[in-house]
Amino acid sequence: MAVQMGDSGFKYGLMTRLLHWAMVALLVWQFAGMGVKLIVGKAPITAFWVGTHKSIGVALLILLILRAGWGLYNLKVRPAHGGGFWGRAALAGHLVLYALMLIVPASALLRQYGSGKPMDLFGLPFIAGSGVETAWMTAPANAFHGLAAWVLLAAIAGHVLMVLVHRFIWKDDTAARMMG
Ligand code: HEM
Ligand code: HEM
Repeated sequence: MAVQMGDSGFKYGLMTRLLHWAMVALLVWQFAGMGVKLIVGKAPITAFWVGTHKSIGVALLILLILRAGWGLYNLKVRPAHGGGFWGRAALAGHLVLYALMLIVPASALLRQYGSGKPMDLFGLPFIAGSGVETAWMTAPANAFHGLAAWVLLAAIAGHVLMVLVHRFIWKDDTAARMMG
């Protein structure tokens, strides 16, 4: 059977599933690194793991932009959320996930730029660093990057819980359309 690239009314295509699961893997890496930092504290493993945080975070931001673009392009042919209360709740939940997946890395990248300090992206020069700090750029992430990230983690937990409810309580085919 041919691989289905685009979405269809019944299931998500290969591209949507690749983007969904690649971001899941990187988000797990991102939160696990911060978890290790909280639990283990200063240690070589923490230094290594958290050392990848900014680059992985920027990769997540790029993937999110591609994913949102692909989602909008396929909007009319994607599996519908449905009308009733649960359909609207699912749509609202997905929009919250998208909003947080944007705000969390975008605010941090703006802070990095506004810090005036240089930044590497996977070892390659990415931001040169002006040497001057710009307060309005650093303020948002200082205020809520970490907090919004933990709220994202809570929203993810709710999302996974709902997938389990679909699969094991309502016994419908919602889980299958993203699992492949
Ligand atoms: C979706 C992507 C990202 C996620 C899920 C994420 C998540 C987190 C989490 C959970 C923390 C710990 C907060 C705490 O200690 O309570 C954190 C801190 C931090 N993140 Fe990210 N992050 C992301 C992207 C980025 C990016 C792109 C950058 C920089 C370019 C960045 C820079 C930082 C810095 C400097 C800290 C320590 C200061 C602070 O808590 O604000 N993060 N991040
Ligand atoms: C890092 C964590 C995750 C995030 C941020 C996330 C985000 C999303 C988003 C935004 C959608 C809407 C479709 C889209 O635009 O791509 C979605 C759909 C879906 N996700 Fe996740 N997801 C995560 C983890 C998971 C996990 C672990 C599972 C499985 C247990 C899962 C199963 C599904 C399923 C089955 C759908 C389709 C739901 C529907 O058609 O209404 N997701 N996810």
